[in-house]
Amino acid sequence: MPDLSANLAGIKSPNPFWLASAPPTNSGYQIMKAFDAGWGGAVWKTLGVPVVNVSSRYGAINYRSNRMVGFNNIELISDRPLRDNLREIEEVKKYFPHHAVVASLMVGSRAEWHQIVKDAENAGADGLELNFGCPHGMCERGMGSAVGQEPEVLKLITSWVMEVATVPVIVKLTPNISDITEPAQAAAQGGANAISLINTIQSLVGVDIDNFVSYPVVDGKSTNGGYCGPAVKPIALNMVKNCAQHPGVRLPISAIGGIENWRDAVEYLLLGASNVQVCTAVMHYGFGIIREMIPGLENYMRDKGFQRLDDFIGKALPNVLHWEDLNLHYDVKASINPDKCIQCQLCYTACEDGAHQAIRIPEDGSRIPQIIEENCVGCNLCSLVCPVENCITMVRKDDGSRHENWKDFVVAGKAPETFDDERAGGLGHWVPAPTDALKKRG
Ligand SMILES: Cc1cc2nc3c(=O)[nH]c(=O)nc-3n(C[C@H](O)[C@H](O)[C@H](O)COP(=O)(O)O)c2cc1C
Ligand code: SF4
Ligand code: SF4
Repeated sequence: MPDLSANLAGIKSPNPFWLASAPPTNSGYQIMKAFDAGWGGAVWKTLGVPVVNVSSRYGAINYRSNRMVGFNNIELISDRPLRDNLREIEEVKKYFPHHAVVASLMVGSRAEWHQIVKDAENAGADGLELNFGCPHGMCERGMGSAVGQEPEVLKLITSWVMEVATVPVIVKLTPNISDITEPAQAAAQGGANAISLINTIQSLVGVDIDNFVSYPVVDGKSTNGGYCGPAVKPIALNMVKNCAQHPGVRLPISAIGGIENWRDAVEYLLLGASNVQVCTAVMHYGFGIIREMIPGLENYMRDKGFQRLDDFIGKALPNVLHWEDLNLHYDVKASINPDKCIQCQLCYTACEDGAHQAIRIPEDGSRIPQIIEENCVGCNLCSLVCPVENCITMVRKDDGSRHENWKDFVVAGKAPETFDDERAGGLGHWVPAPTDALKKRG
């Protein structure tokens, strides 16, 4: 049986699945219920001077039949008195001493930070997460992402916390910044023990086109909120990878963003995360999703022969390079399996209008498209639009013996340098004459 236990900078949990600081961690009741269901840790809904929230608070992007593909909120930190939250942290720790309970914190002054750190530690928190990420409301008060966007301020406040903290400190980063590694490095310089990312992405989730106001609507008005859920996972994966690879960061990472199942979690671990946190998926489907996440991860580890998480944390990192390091001689072409094809012709339309005119409909009456190999640049588009799994595959055509990347091209004098350079990559690709487009109409 693989060992799922996780360790983030000394914060131990029976598995790597934590709840992120958000409505599912608003109370001891919810966290006890989640731990009972199998979650390994929880980051408490951010503690600070309690807020007053608005109603309504949430909005969502539904895509075709999928609801909440993207989720947006304008909620602030905890609106419950600090003493109630602290008492419940203590109670949860009594029942679940081996689970991770992390207190998320957000206050203003150095004195307030010192006080709340001590309060959270006295209540029994296993770690502290500094919320430098909230991109709405709190940032207008000089906290949240207002701190996360200013590396020097982030570093200073982290160092205030490190003056008194005796448990591990995680700095939670905002993605609302052009280079995530800058605040990540500032967290390291401030003395943090770990980072977590991402908090939500500043967003407007849509506009009511009849009443001329964006969502969510509060008495006829609205404001920007924070975006999360499955839609943000690609952005978060890239930011986690950037932090994991950066030599100036070198901190354990707790990954957050669009995680719904064990596979999402594995992807983050492969890119260097030590554990993961989940918010939207639990708001959508409840704590019960953990019942598939744990056996899913166990099966994956068993299949791959991994005994513990450390066997595969960061395993994909050496394979994620800069573009200039990729092999320019690697050559794939699309191939259609006629036995699987349902003749929808989506691939033909996509390649004809959106790619390289490398798919034809045969003139013999068959509706199964054919690839024109010499025109195919191997872009993948047809295989991505094809609704039938594995009907279009990308087949390698080069023999693997040549490896030359852009840097090699530059050194060897093969890189195009002028606007009409004969060494342009597209010169060898056939394109139809512009007027052929009109002939097709007739
Ligand atoms: C309604 C709502 C409230 C949130 N409140 C907090 C919070 O108080 N503190 C915090 O650090 N993050 C908060 N978050 C951000 C989440 O912890 C998490 O970083 C984000 O939702 C991305 O994860 P997900 O894609 O799994 O939802 C909140 C998110 C939502 C949707
Ligand atoms: S998209 Fe796939 S199923 Fe549809 S015609 Fe092309 S190969 Fe066939
Ligand atoms: S891989 Fe790209 S270029 Fe090749 S057939 Fe498919 S869509 Fe066309």
